[in-house]
Amino acid sequence: MNADSAPNHHQAHRQFFNERAEQWLDMWYKDPESGQYTRFDAEFQRLFGLVPLPPDGSVLDVGCGSGILVPYILERLSDRGRLTEVDCAEQMIAVNRRLHADPRIAFLVADVMAMDIQPASIDVAICFACFPHFEHKAEAVQRLSRVLRPGGKLAVAHLMSSAELNQHHRKHEAVMHDMLPGAADMRRYLAAAGLSLELSLDEPGFYLLLASKPDDRDPR
Ligand SMILES: C[S@@+](CC[C@H](N)C(=O)[O-])C[C@H]1O[C@@H](n2cnc3c(N)ncnc32)[C@H](O)[C@@H]1O
Repeated sequence: MNADSAPNHHQAHRQFFNERAEQWLDMWYKDPESGQYTRFDAEFQRLFGLVPLPPDGSVLDVGCGSGILVPYILERLSDRGRLTEVDCAEQMIAVNRRLHADPRIAFLVADVMAMDIQPASIDVAICFACFPHFEHKAEAVQRLSRVLRPGGKLAVAHLMSSAELNQHHRKHEAVMHDMLPGAADMRRYLAAAGLSLELSLDEPGFYLLLASKPDDRDPR
């Protein structure tokens, strides 16, 4: 990487996602029969079955886009629960904010590498359909680990296997280099960030890596 590549990579991605923000949910998530964004309802129910959210907890949705996960997260949170929606593409956040007016949500336009979030404040951080786009993956995991509370969890999830996803990205010029790392690299990133792997699924139509931050108060 030369000194100029980071801003270029970042700008190109931001533009790519900004340009698609208004259509994003229609493009990917609309059920053609109902017109609702429920096309992958069964998969999201499975995801949140595997990644339980503490009702009064703080959830971070990184690379949130226009907020496909918002209803699934909010329905699992109490009035005391909090959700932070973070994306580096400001148009994604603008659409997300317009669609989801709820006092439990804070919206943040930020790169995963520069989130203004208090350390050790988050119970569950979710990277849904965004991890391959992070330019500095090992460092991104470190940043995410830092904002997790002891006992907090990090989930990296996709509705494709890693092979399907990488194949999908290869077909699109703007994201053709955005690959989901292999299992060994992901384990290395987690370990370096002090996270313990709890669950790893990589199967057609579903990918989930779930890791947790050790809690010294946990007697196990
Ligand atoms: C494929 S979209 C997925 C959006 C949303 N999670 C969904 O599934 O509909 C990837 C999102 O990640 C965001 N993103 C990419 N790189 C990012 C970064 N370094 N920091 C924060 N957000 C990022 C993009 O702006 C985009 O909205």
